[in-house]
Amino acid sequence: MTATKGLEGIVAATTSVSSIVDGVLTYRGYDIDDLADNATFEEVVYLLWYGSLPSHSELAQLKAELSASAAVPAPVIDILRLFPANTPTMAVLRTAVSSLALYDPEAEDMSKEANLHKAIRLQAQIPTIIAAFTRLREGNAPVSPKEGASIAENFLYMLTGVDPDPVAVKALDKALVLHADHELNASTFAGRVTVATLSDIYSGVTSAVGALKGPLHGGANEAVMNMLEEIGSIDHIDDYIRGKLDRREKLMGFGHRVYKGGDPRAKHLQKMSYELGKSTGNLKWYDMSVKIEGLVTGLKGLRPNVDFYSASVYTTLGIPRDLFTPIFAISRCSGWTAHILEQYENNRIIRPRAEYVGQADQKYIPVDFR
Ligand code: SDX
Repeated sequence: MTATKGLEGIVAATTSVSSIVDGVLTYRGYDIDDLADNATFEEVVYLLWYGSLPSHSELAQLKAELSASAAVPAPVIDILRLFPANTPTMAVLRTAVSSLALYDPEAEDMSKEANLHKAIRLQAQIPTIIAAFTRLREGNAPVSPKEGASIAENFLYMLTGVDPDPVAVKALDKALVLHADHELNASTFAGRVTVATLSDIYSGVTSAVGALKGPLHGGANEAVMNMLEEIGSIDHIDDYIRGKLDRREKLMGFGHRVYKGGDPRAKHLQKMSYELGKSTGNLKWYDMSVKIEGLVTGLKGLRPNVDFYSASVYTTLGIPRDLFTPIFAISRCSGWTAHILEQYENNRIIRPRAEYVGQADQKYIPVDFR
């Protein structure tokens, strides 16, 4: 038995939710470029869960269900009030998602119907939790969800209590489409491993949130913005990047296990970063990002991933930095739950082997003689 570090190249599941073949990402057979330019996030959620794009009435029904489920149980909001204001929002989300199960009468119902209900509740309530905590930590009362609003519009509305700019809603909606699913990424795998024990969907999504939080995965978008701010200005990029590479440090927002020729989502986020920067009259973060990309690709052959330009997109939208990864979670909840539902359909516990590299032939010595 020989281990493959990081399971690189190992095919650990079959899926019909999404695929990456020769650098092309598809959700249920639809190219991400097509969906990014044309679909709304709610259409994508429907596509991921049910396998086809919705009709008018199917879409209207899903939107109504999501809207009706967006309010979070009052005890969960009360728990948020107890958390220290400086807690990272992803840590809050991890605990809050787990706590949702305690107030869901269907939490332990493993029927397909109940699992779909829970997927809808999770998708609808994760944005509410994030917005509520953001307001509470600033001493403001949470804002109730706006009836009939899309997930993107409602999230921005619940953050501020005022109707958001339609340009911002459209940009966020597109970012949600781009982040919705990505084959067997680390958080999706974590979710699938958890539910493959026949544990409940809340346990699966809690595992997934924990995995997404790390800076080698979803946490990289926040780290990219930290880097841009640390560099400070376009003149300092050269020294900073060369220094990092000389010290063999990781550059956040670059590289990918699967894509070597570039992440197909990055170009959409780059374009959004430019358009938003231009419309707000502040292209600083965009210009810096482009220069960093050129340098890193030239020196190291590394290409930006989904997290690189999303940092300047969210910053230009005025979103607090520690909500970048939670926004990734809002979107990826659709993919996590689609994969979890798929795992339940054809389940087998996921239990690989390990290559033992520890000591051998040890003999027990009583504690007095050690
Ligand atoms: C996401 O998997 C998914 O699908 C994830 C995701 C999704 O949608 O779910 O796409 C979202 O998580 C994007 C990735 C976000 N993470 C980062 O931006 C963090 C920085 N990137 C990396 O640390 C790294 O590239 C990973 C984690 C993304 C991939 O790690 P791998 O596949 O284990 O690659 P590696 O670390 O073994 O790197 C291979 C080589 C090494 O050089 P050598 O030792 O062979 O000389 O490339 C170098 C690495 O040092 N390298 C980097 C680098 N990424 C790779 N060097 C500097 N900076 C980097 N970012």
